[in-house]
Amino acid sequence: MQDYVNTMKAPVTDATRRFVSKPHRMLIGGAWEEASDGGTLDVFDPATGQAFAKVPAGGKADIDRAVAAARKAFDGGDWALMRAVDRERLLMKLADLVEANAQELAELEALDNGKPVTVARFADVALVVDSLRYMAGWATKIGGETMQPSVPIIREREFWGFTRREPVGVVGAIIPWNFPLLMAAWKMGPALASGCTMVLKPAEETPLSALRLAELVQEAGYPAGVFNVVTGLGHTAGAALSSHPHIDKLAFTGSTEIGKLVGKAALDNMTRISLELGGKSPMIVLEDADVDAVATGAAHGIFFNSGQVCTAGSRLFVHKKKFDQVVEGLSNIAAGMKVGAGLDPDTQLGPLVSAVQQERVMGYIRSGFDEGARAAVGGEAGAGGGYFVKPTVLVDARDDMRVVREEIFGPVVVAMPYDDLDEVARRANDTPYGLAASIWSNDLTRVHRLIPRIKAGTVWVNCHTVLDNSMPFGGFKQSGIGREMGRAVFDQYTELKSVLMAL
Ligand code: NAI
Ligand code: MG
Repeated sequence: MQDYVNTMKAPVTDATRRFVSKPHRMLIGGAWEEASDGGTLDVFDPATGQAFAKVPAGGKADIDRAVAAARKAFDGGDWALMRAVDRERLLMKLADLVEANAQELAELEALDNGKPVTVARFADVALVVDSLRYMAGWATKIGGETMQPSVPIIREREFWGFTRREPVGVVGAIIPWNFPLLMAAWKMGPALASGCTMVLKPAEETPLSALRLAELVQEAGYPAGVFNVVTGLGHTAGAALSSHPHIDKLAFTGSTEIGKLVGKAALDNMTRISLELGGKSPMIVLEDADVDAVATGAAHGIFFNSGQVCTAGSRLFVHKKKFDQVVEGLSNIAAGMKVGAGLDPDTQLGPLVSAVQQERVMGYIRSGFDEGARAAVGGEAGAGGGYFVKPTVLVDARDDMRVVREEIFGPVVVAMPYDDLDEVARRANDTPYGLAASIWSNDLTRVHRLIPRIKAGTVWVNCHTVLDNSMPFGGFKQSGIGREMGRAVFDQYTELKSVLMAL
């Protein structure tokens, strides 16, 4: 296996070769550990389907060790005593280290997840650095309020009150494979800024960047046990973490199905939960929209990260007057995209993450054909041993088809015409999900009338899947509970304590 990365033709840095070919261990309580039972998991290159590394297959015993280490670090010692300003500095230092190792981290994401290395560098890793710095800034700004209580039934005393925001405690974070490093950062930024400790369980498909990140955490100088990583499967390591009685908060990103499972397990211990789940986000193109701008924007909305994005614009509603033009423009872009290995610097669309995901997405495409839809472009798997699916635009669809109702999580958009605003608002909301939506128009009145009617946590106007740390992110309906990013995320990582004093 070590030969795979050393003999690879793709241009990767020596740092990446060194990291990939060394034995991988989990960071638990400041030490590098194998799985208690010695088990390992293979890591596959989605561009070729070949295994190229092994990581520990952590299980319940390893989660127990990691939670105990995180518990100890939270309950006393250097971390518990550390001032907010020093937590800010540490997180800034970690951000600097991520930045200094950006190319290696991007290459690891490309190898592990399959995404284009250029995208990993200038989107994923850049967003991680930005996110850690933004959250570092909040460390010194988290605080409560003072109140002037009346206490009308006790007139003879005076009172005053204040609130404190205290770190919630030990955070268990379970993350998916579509943005491995960024999802780790979204949990770790607010956890470490607010003074929590954490156990991270990366997805089994993409464990490498989390292990490299753990090295950088050590290098930054975090006390032992503050940040722990356990690699392993969902139904073993993940299940042990979500049901653990000694974690205080569970932060999960992944499928709605597993989100419900881990949410119920956590609630048994009254563990706080935030769930970022699936979506079936509409892109709504109004009559006045510019066709070329929409085609380019919609291509980004659905094909970014090969469609493996929780906010992917997978339902494209176009006013009937512009429908044929938009479908033609988008199909032309799709047909011209360079599909290839993530490590090839020219690649625009990488493979899907795994054989399972490729089969799932191809199954959806076939179901669309069976139910009467047609591919304006794409509709087939790519050649070679990798998990490729060609960028696909489906037309002739009905609202009750599976491809319109279910999350596909691949480079597949269903384009559908509509007649008027009431109709499109109703159809856009006709989904169990409510993560995001976009509206494409310069008609201010119509745009503002539509925004309040869309049941989604994020509404973009004339763009799609554009993220900023200042903007809270999360879902309505079956897309989840809670918000990440912005000031709002600290509601999930702190407990609010009321202090009432009689004078
Ligand atoms: P998943 O929800 O099974 O995996 C996400 C994370 O949950 C991984 O770390 C996994 O190890 C963990 N997990 C799995 N089973 C668990 C359990 N019983 N207890 C605790 N943790 C568990 O997602 P999967 O199977 O990789 O993908 C299936 C579908 O989910 C995709 O096709 C896509 O539709 C959706 N998905 C959505 C994501 C999003 O960002 N909203 C991300 C990944 C998948
Ligand atoms: Mg699963």
